[in-house]
Amino acid sequence: MPISDNHHYILSYYRTGEITGALFFGRLAKIMRPGPIQMDMTKHFADEAAHAYYWTEAIRRLGREPLKLRDSYQDQYNEAIGIPVNVMETLAVTQVFERRVINAYARHERAPNLDPVVKETITKIMEDEKWHIYWIKNALTGLESEYGKDHIEETIKRYWLADKEVYANTMQEHEERIDEIMKGKG
Ligand SMILES: [Fe+2]
Ligand SMILES: [Fe+2]
Repeated sequence: MPISDNHHYILSYYRTGEITGALFFGRLAKIMRPGPIQMDMTKHFADEAAHAYYWTEAIRRLGREPLKLRDSYQDQYNEAIGIPVNVMETLAVTQVFERRVINAYARHERAPNLDPVVKETITKIMEDEKWHIYWIKNALTGLESEYGKDHIEETIKRYWLADKEVYANTMQEHEERIDEIMKGKG
């Protein structure tokens, strides 16, 4: 039996988000100065591209075609808080965003009667997402001498508040569908 409409939408949303992430980090990796951040960001870009493929494959294995969705969550972000202006701001907004992603996947993974294809895909992706949080945290620590610890913390806090606001304002449909999935309804 093909997956429910709720899952069809949510998995397509994940796919779109992973593609947007891959394109964002890919562009940065292309223009960045050589060094450890360039290397980790290139790996990060490659991971997000792989995740987009995993979801595309999963949706097809579940008997549907990916939905073409106009905006990703990141697009809403850029509209609300602007494009980051330096490496530190980029990493700060990414840290906030990656935490949002990992929490969303962790929550979905706990849904009752989850299809094994969905579970397997989330588990596989979560391994990489944990590393994303880890390398960004380390990179931000490494930038403290340049930008100042307090300034970095304030920046993260600013993005964290913006993230909460963007989510509350733009993700109602997503939330309703996830709610139903968490109640075991598709
Ligand atoms: Fe990802
Ligand atoms: Fe990620």
